[in-house]
Amino acid sequence: MNILAIETSCDETGVAITRNGREILANEVFSQADLHALYGGVVPEIASRNHIIVLTKLMESALSKADLTKADLEAIAVTYAPGLIGALLVGVNFAKSMAYALGIPLIPVHHIRGHIAANYIAYPELKPPFLCLVVSGGHSQLVDVRDYTDMSIIGATRDDAAGECFDKVARVLGLGYPGGKALDDLAQGGDDKAYTLPRSTIDGHPLDMSFSGLKTAVLNLIHNADQKGETLDRKGLAASFAAAISDTLVPRTMQAAAEQNYKHIAVAGGVAANSRIRRDLESAAKDADCTLYLPPLFLCGDNAAMIACQAYFEPKPGLLDNLDLNAYATKPL
Ligand code: KG4
Ligand code: ZN
Repeated sequence: MNILAIETSCDETGVAITRNGREILANEVFSQADLHALYGGVVPEIASRNHIIVLTKLMESALSKADLTKADLEAIAVTYAPGLIGALLVGVNFAKSMAYALGIPLIPVHHIRGHIAANYIAYPELKPPFLCLVVSGGHSQLVDVRDYTDMSIIGATRDDAAGECFDKVARVLGLGYPGGKALDDLAQGGDDKAYTLPRSTIDGHPLDMSFSGLKTAVLNLIHNADQKGETLDRKGLAASFAAAISDTLVPRTMQAAAEQNYKHIAVAGGVAANSRIRRDLESAAKDADCTLYLPPLFLCGDNAAMIACQAYFEPKPGLLDNLDLNAYATKPL
């Protein structure tokens, strides 16, 4: 089954085609990061307008890379939630028009389910149930994936997401937007004990997390050093910060897997590209005798291949179903 998927939930425009869910025939991603870097974060209106500008070109280029015509498509999938509402609406309306014009079904996909599905592409042998750590710009969650379309959140951040925290610290260090990757690069070779940073816990909720105290501690540290004219050990700070994030995520992931009796652990979302978190998860999974599924870097960040993959497992709608589909800024998993 050839599914063409559209992803426009934030500042990446994605169009992909997969065959039978797990095989990528084309995966076109246009990142608008440069357009938003000027403002230090995503400007929703700019994101929506640029999705409109590039979507048709990306769709044509995906078809040409897959060596298919529109007549070869059997369904259209689209991210309908969660995300920036205007940006999502561009993708949803584009997808509806395509499905209607081609007379093929329209499959709505939840963005976080898509991130989790990136693992099915990378690991054809992976099947639910498993535990998934989802860490993106807007989400930090531990998900009990009981089946392809049956999952629930068993632990989550109470405030900032890990990615948001990386981006804010990176911005104050002058590393641009989005700064997660730049901060990861800066941390290489740095002393992860150079600075003592907090690791927060939530009383009575051991699987929940909080990153805002860590973020504030790092921002205060940078501003204090600046005001006193002290030289900051930037590499050491980046490494200490990555260690604090990892120390929050990794033990909770292992505890959640143990509580659910899972020996299979997957990771998803843009922050899953972080080298420290990947390294720490690899060693913790080895110690616990668990199999770890880490998506390759190109499937960690936002892309439409993961949406097409998840769509394959979602219930198959009828021909004219979902043409009244709406987009939602927030939506339960
Ligand atoms: O999943 P994603 O592409 O978009 C959302 O759905 O939010 O995640 C983007 C986030 C950004 O916060 C970005 O800075 C972060 O992933 N990120 C990283 C790394 N690469 C991307 N954070 C830490 N280390 C990285 N190597
Ligand atoms: Zn995402």
